[in-house]
Formats: sequence, C-alpha cells, structure tokens
Amino acid sequence: MIKTARILLIDDDISLCTVVSHQLEGMGYNVQIANRGAEGIEKLQKKTFDLVLLDLQMPEMPGMEALKRIRLFNDQIPVIIITAFGTIENAVQACRKGADDYLPKPFAKEQLLFTIEKALRLKNLEKDNRRLQLELEEKYRFGNIISKNKKMQALLQVAGRAAQSDAAVLITGESGTGKELLAKAIHLSSPRKENPFVAVNCPSIPETLIESELFGHEKGAFTGAVSSRPGKFEMADGGTLFLDEIGDLKFDLQSKLLRVLQEHEIERIGGSKPISVDVRVISATNRNLTELAQKNQFRQDLYYRLDVIPLNIPPLRDREDDIPLLVEHFVKKYAARELILKPDFMEALLKYSWPGNVRELENMVQRAVVLCPTNTLDRTCLAFDREADFQPSLPPDESTLAEAERRAIISALESTGWNQTRAAEILNIPRHVLLYRMKKLGVVREK
Ligand SMILES: Nc1ncnc2c1ncn2[C@@H]1O[C@H](COP(=O)(O)OP(=O)(O)OP(=O)(O)O)[C@@H](O)[C@H]1O
Ligand SMILES: [Mg+2]
Repeated sequence: MIKTARILLIDDDISLCTVVSHQLEGMGYNVQIANRGAEGIEKLQKKTFDLVLLDLQMPEMPGMEALKRIRLFNDQIPVIIITAFGTIENAVQACRKGADDYLPKPFAKEQLLFTIEKALRLKNLEKDNRRLQLELEEKYRFGNIISKNKKMQALLQVAGRAAQSDAAVLITGESGTGKELLAKAIHLSSPRKENPFVAVNCPSIPETLIESELFGHEKGAFTGAVSSRPGKFEMADGGTLFLDEIGDLKFDLQSKLLRVLQEHEIERIGGSKPISVDVRVISATNRNLTELAQKNQFRQDLYYRLDVIPLNIPPLRDREDDIPLLVEHFVKKYAARELILKPDFMEALLKYSWPGNVRELENMVQRAVVLCPTNTLDRTCLAFDREADFQPSLPPDESTLAEAERRAIISALESTGWNQTRAAEILNIPRHVLLYRMKKLGVVREK
C-alpha cells in the first residue's frame, strides 16, 4: 500500500527533480514536481498527496515559509526536508516547526526510500491509533454517555432495550451523575427520535404555573391567560417528555399526572374536551422516591406508574475506572490544542471523592484546561473547590484495615500538599494522633 503513495516534490533544482522522480517512480511511487514553493502549495491544495519532499533553499518562497503555509491547511501530511550539505542546522529548525524528517544532500537512493517509507509508516500508525481511539470511545458509549464501568455498562444495556419500548423509565442518581444525559440518550436511540424531546424541570416552575405548563390552557382560563397555549405534554406529542426532579412535584399535581398517564389524554385548563397525547415519559430524581412514598409525600400509585424501568446511576466515586476516560473526553472537549497529562494530574483526580459527580469533574477539567498556562496539565492546575469535602476513597474489600488507614492518611496528606495540620482536620483527628499513626504505619512523603 505504501508503494502507491503520491509524493509531491518541491525543489527548484530541475536536474535533482528529474533524478529523484525517476528513482521514486521506479519504486512504484506516483510523483509530481513543483519548482517553486507557491506552485507546490497550489498543487497540494488541489490534489491529495501522501507525502511532501521539500527543499529548504528556493528562490521567491524559501522552504521554511512554504512549510509554515502547508501546515496552516494540512497538519497531517508528512513533510521531509531536503537540505544542502552544511545546513543541517536549518533542517533541525524545520523539524521543530512541523517537518517530520530531513535528508541532507546528496543522498543515496536507499537513503531516500528508507526515509520516505519510515515517514509513511509512522503516519499510518498514527492513523490506526486515532481510529482505534475512536472505536474505543464508540464502544464505551451510549449516546454521549462515556463509561466503561461494568455496572454502568449493564445499566446502559437495560437503557438501550428500554429505548425500544414506550415503558416509563425512572432515572435516579445523585446530582451531576448524568440523569438528563441518559434521558436524552434513551430518546435518541428510541423510535421516537425524530420527534421532540421536551424537558420539564418541576421545581423551577412556580407552583401556580406548573399545571398550565404541563397541560396548557385555553384563552381566558385564568387572569393573564390572554391566548390559548399548549402544554409540554402536547408539545412532546409523538416524542418523549422528561420530567426532571419529579420528587418535588406537589401532591395534587401528582394525581393529575397519574390520570394523564392512565388515560393518555390531557385537558387544558379551561378546556372543555380532552386531547389525546402519545408521549413516552422519562422521569428523574435525586431524592429517594420509595422513602417519600412511604412517608406519604409521594403517591404510591404514581410511583409505580413512573418506575416501570428503574435506572439507578451510580455516583462517580463508585466507578473510579470511568474517571480517566471522562478526563480524556473533557480535555479533548475543552482544549483547542494538544495537551500533555502528567501522571500526578490523573492521580489527584482519582483520589478525590467527587460529591458533585461528573458535572464537578467536567467543571474541574474545563477550569484546568482554560487556566493552565503551559501545554502540560499537572496537579497544580487543579483547584479543588472545598478541600474539606475531600473524603479519602474507600479501599477494595480485600485490603486490611491498616492498609485502608494508610491509604486514607496518604490521600488526605496529598490533597493538602502534605500539610499535616489540614490533613488531620480532614481526617477529623488531632494532629499528634496523625503523626503517631504516620510513624506507626511508616507513611513518609516520597521524594
Ligand atoms: N457518562 C458521562 N459521559 C459524558 N458526560 C457526562 C456523563 N455523565 C454526565 N456527564 C456530563 O455531566 C454534566 C451533568 O450531567 P446531567 O445534567 O445529565 O446530570 P444530572 O444527573 O441531571 O444532574 P442534576 O441532578 O444536578 O440535574 C453534563 O454536562 C453531562 O453532559
Ligand atoms: Mg438534571
């Protein structure tokens, strides 16, 4: 495959061009020649090439300038610099500016072939790498949800099956775990995906307006109802209605909602006839609905109606294995440039307990990317909101108590930059106890 590659040779030395193109074509390459930088760039913009051989010393537009312009519109194509004897310095400089390799003149045919094949092979490897990376992301994804955690994978499988039906789904999980994201993903992989996804955030609507918001009203139904308006149920007809924070819905509205779910029809406020609606309902809450139902703060019968397919999203601290994947995803999402992640960056993120779950992680990474002055992300780019919130994560079951304690102490110390007074505060023990335990467990700061 490499042998049929198309090569663009940009060099003002006509005899060199003839020789080199003859050699390369003899090896099965397809070669085109440009004797000026501008001409080469024009060819490159019009046609697809796999590699560029570029002379540094040319009249009108020097190779360095040509390289700069090529990189403006093509940062993928391998560029090999051809440089006269004694000007290696410039070639090295060019490699810093985005060239892939260089060939000092005069060069033997073998040397030419070797350099070209190496560059093409490298480029192919990079391509494969990117493709694998994309496949990997694709594999661990349902809609825009990124996760490779086993529990999450099982959950997403259920969600995928649920999407094919019209059954009511109740998504539970702490704030920021991705409840709304999951609701949208279900809608988008359902047969209803071409129709609207309408979200209602129950607590954000004033109590007096929520009924009209959900079911709509006719003109003159109440003071201020100057025209008739459809409610969210009607707007979501044929699609999905997402009832967010359903646990906060007032009791009398719960009864009305229940009736709509049973009858598949709504009545606008002030309306005289029922309107039938075809809506799939997904609800979400971060409250414990079972408990609310037991305390009679949430209607038991409505709860059963909504909870046909329960999906509980685990908090981020229970799926640490998702953190690296999410971090990479968010770095890519927010960074316009390529960034290098230092191990201590990921380590610090892995140690934090994430009370605000994925949303907090996303914000933290975004802030780090935006505020980080260099191309490297390390621990110092992270500003944990409330360090006091830091909770040492629990170790796996099989480890001993002493190991658990050791890990907790090290985590607390690391989160405070080894400030013993603050670490003791986090662990809720006096400083002298911390010092004693550190000595006993042999906890020392690694240099
Ligand atoms: N698994 C995930 N992959 C990618 N992004 C995620 C994931 N989980 C959550 N997010 C992102 O985190 C943010 C919070 O998600 P979302 O709003 O869905 O959470 P929520 O559970 O509805 O939170 P709340 O209870 O506070 O309303 C969003 O920006 C979402 O895109
Ligand atoms: Mg939400």
